Amino acid sequence: MKTATRSSALAVGLLTLAVGAAFAHGGATGIVKERMDAMTEISRNVKVVGQMLKGTAAYKPDEIERAAKAIAGHAGDAMTDLFPEGSLMSPTEASPEIWAEWPEFSAYAESLQSSAQTLEGLAAQGADKKTVAAAFGKVAATCKTCHEAFRIKK
Ligand code: HEC
Repeated sequence: MKTATRSSALAVGLLTLAVGAAFAHGGATGIVKERMDAMTEISRNVKVVGQMLKGTAAYKPDEIERAAKAIAGHAGDAMTDLFPEGSLMSPTEASPEIWAEWPEFSAYAESLQSSAQTLEGLAAQGADKKTVAAAFGKVAATCKTCHEAFRIKK
C-alpha cells in the first residue's frame, strides 16, 4: 500500500501547484472569465478533497463524491467548449498551442473527466481511503500535465 500513500502525498503537492494561481484573473471578461471561473471552481473542489486526504478536514466520502462530480462536470466537453479557437484575450494564461495541439488538449480534458468520475464512483462505493487517495492523485496529475503544456504562467 506504499504506492497509495505516495500518490496521496504527491496529490497534495500537486494540489498546491494547481491552486497556487487561483486569484490571477483580475479584469478578465467573457469566455476567458468563464473558463477562469470554471477552473477556480474545479480548484476549490480539489482543495476540499485534498484537505480531507491530508487530514486537515474531516474525511467525508459523500463530500468527496460531490466534489468529484463537480470536477467531472467542468471537465471533458464542458471544459473544451470554453476554449473557442483563438480566444486569447488579456489577461488569459492560455497558450496558443491549445489550438495547434487540440487532440492532446482535449484528451487531457477527457482524462480529467474520467479520472474524476472514477474518484466519484470509488467514494460512492465506500472504497478505503488509500484507494480514494490514489484515484485523487490521478485527478490532480491531469491538472499539472495540462497546465505545463498549455498554460503560460504570467
Ligand atoms: C485540458 C487542460 C487543463 C486541465 C485538465 C486543467 N486545466 Fe486548469 N487551466 C488550463 C488553462 C489553459 C488555463 C488558463 C486559462 C486562461 O487563463 O484563459 C487554466 C487555468 C487554471 C487556473 C487559473 C484560473 C484563473 O483564475 O486564472 C486554475 C486555478 C486551474 N486552472 C486549476 C485547475 C485544476 C485544479 C485542475 C485539475 C483538477 C485543472 N486546472 C485542470 C488548462 C487545464
